[in-house]
Amino acid sequence: MSIHDSLCEISSSGIRELFDLAQDIEDVVSFGIGEPDFDTPEFIKKAAKRALDEGHTHYTPNIGRDDLREEIVKKLKQENNVETDKENVMITIGANQAFILSLSSFVKDGDEVLIPSPGFVSYGPCVKFSGGTPVEYPLKGENNFRPKIEDLEELTTEDTRAIFLNTPSNPTGYIIRRKELEKIADYLIENDLIALVDEVYENIVYENRHTSLASLNGMSNHVITINSFSKTYAMTGWRLGYVVAPEDKIDPMVKLQMFTCACPPNFTQKAAADIMNTEKAEKAVEKMVEAYRKRRDLLCDRIKEIPEMRLKKPEGAFYAFPNIEKTGMNSKELSRRLIEDAKVVCVPGESFGKYGENHLRLSYATGRETINEGMNRLENFFKKV
Ligand SMILES: Cc1ncc(COP(=O)(O)O)c(C=O)c1O
Repeated sequence: MSIHDSLCEISSSGIRELFDLAQDIEDVVSFGIGEPDFDTPEFIKKAAKRALDEGHTHYTPNIGRDDLREEIVKKLKQENNVETDKENVMITIGANQAFILSLSSFVKDGDEVLIPSPGFVSYGPCVKFSGGTPVEYPLKGENNFRPKIEDLEELTTEDTRAIFLNTPSNPTGYIIRRKELEKIADYLIENDLIALVDEVYENIVYENRHTSLASLNGMSNHVITINSFSKTYAMTGWRLGYVVAPEDKIDPMVKLQMFTCACPPNFTQKAAADIMNTEKAEKAVEKMVEAYRKRRDLLCDRIKEIPEMRLKKPEGAFYAFPNIEKTGMNSKELSRRLIEDAKVVCVPGESFGKYGENHLRLSYATGRETINEGMNRLENFFKKV
């Protein structure tokens, strides 16, 4: 199917509809935001200004700057226990571009790709653009939103080529534990599948450590790791990410990059190379994560006081994903009513896939005052309905 035909088939995001509705209402409190509210740390901005002054203003190789790719190799070894080479690392325009580049490197017409449900909204459309068919696999609340091998096996057919994994997850905030990743590794080998592992929230974790699937034995030909500077360093607008993949997948990605955008901006790549793996960066991330942790605790404590919502504490990212079955409303209807009657924006769970229904996503990448005000409004709303 052509990209144009896929675009005609894909409906615009339900999230957008609600945000449009909220735009016409004054004094709205938003739990809808999917990006850090912190500004990019000052020393990172300075690194970009310095890079401009030093003349890093021309094209880079399609695969990205050497120095940044070398720093990523170093980081993967030190932080993720992943041994790789710079030939396996490509710089991309955020994780979002890495999805489409990665899929285009191996998906053929009619191939099926398993995607998490609830899961990040880009996976399904990117699979379609690459000519594949997305197949949702369930992440159930009773399993702490972690994939069950039995579910994956049931959905795997002779056309299945790959599976998306996201840990920590948007929208659930849950982490896939090492033991579960080991089972997934066996499943990948048995079925000769590729995992596209989205690790953009790897640094935003509170309990339990993040484990990279690529660090497990025998995974080097089965895993494409996708990551980004967006969430870790509050750099969403910089549009900088990377992909780590077997060389036979990197080659077609480089070709596609060459004929579409050539490369991500040079000076942002240089700035990222300069700040990565520094103590200053580590401290800045720690500080932001500590703030997210306090906000998570506050939000979860407040949600606990609302009998209509059920939530187990999320372990990472900056989202809470409470169950709202007790309200008797579906997630879209409840989100709409919350905007209209309580002036609070929450994202309906169904926007993240069919298994996201009966939940709302609340982002706590926002100040404590906003969290308290929003939760006061939710409490009042539920007292009245
Ligand atoms: C799970 C997940 N992956 C990827 C992205 C996109 O990241 P980037 O800004 O690097 O394109 C997001 C953004 O919200 C996300 O939540």
